[in-house]
Amino acid sequence: MTDQPDIENLVKKVQANKKYEAITPNLVRRLSKSALARGLSGKSAVKDVRNKLHQIGGAYFKQKIDYSQWLNELKETDKSLNSVQLRQFCARMMGLHASTAERLPILENFFKTCLAPISPVKSILDLACGLNPLAIPWMPLQLDFSYHACDIYLDMLSLVQSFFDHLGIDGTTDACDLVGEVPTKHAQVAFLLKSIPCLEQIDKEISLMLLEKVQAEHILVSFPVQSLGGRNKGMPDYYQDHFYEMISGKAWQIKKFTFQTEMAFLVTK
Ligand SMILES: C[S@@+](CC[C@H](N)C(=O)[O-])C[C@H]1O[C@@H](n2cnc3c(N)ncnc32)[C@H](O)[C@@H]1O
Repeated sequence: MTDQPDIENLVKKVQANKKYEAITPNLVRRLSKSALARGLSGKSAVKDVRNKLHQIGGAYFKQKIDYSQWLNELKETDKSLNSVQLRQFCARMMGLHASTAERLPILENFFKTCLAPISPVKSILDLACGLNPLAIPWMPLQLDFSYHACDIYLDMLSLVQSFFDHLGIDGTTDACDLVGEVPTKHAQVAFLLKSIPCLEQIDKEISLMLLEKVQAEHILVSFPVQSLGGRNKGMPDYYQDHFYEMISGKAWQIKKFTFQTEMAFLVTK
């Protein structure tokens, strides 16, 4: 058994670096516990935890985001989802995170197409959201929609919450470690966009458990079609096989959508 003080000490050391200070401590604690249980200590334990945090989160930031500067800009932005100025702001912000950046070329069609069978959508649970809530202006939603978003980055979630508040959206944000607990909120549709590969780096079994337990009638699951480095490496086939194998035996309806930069499945339970 690893001592609690050792775990807390490692968490502190890991988060002493600015790159990791805004990550929910629950996740850092889980990874620290695992590193110590594998016999790592000192600098190698700190390095192990930071490497994992980089792979599952840090690697997606194309540059350090100055949230206070973006918040100031948000305050000067139109408060209407139809505004061109607001959409330009959202697109520029989404460009700062690799995952939303590669969705920009398909944004006009991505949500319209994938959500068409269930639109206009009333409520969304965006799991491991990244900056995806800023794509709301491109989603086919009811006028009085609600949105709940969660991720591991507290500073990013704070900006997303300010975005909701600025636009008067019925939206909430929460820090979450999806490997540790499944959110209990209910929604018409949950998004699990391009996050399965990240979550499975911590726990190979987590994806099916999430799909089973998430409180939503529909789940929009997606996968990248190329690596962060830009290589295809047979990824679409690999992820498609992985997804169908994972859900085999489930009496769920599946609709598949293929885009230039993303492959999506609308799961209906
Ligand atoms: C590939 S990005 C996808 C982001 C967003 N869903 C999108 O499609 O643009 C993976 C996201 O998973 C988040 N993440 C990684 N591990 C997580 C965990 N254990 N719990 C919740 N979110 C996590 C990362 O911070 C990152 O925002």
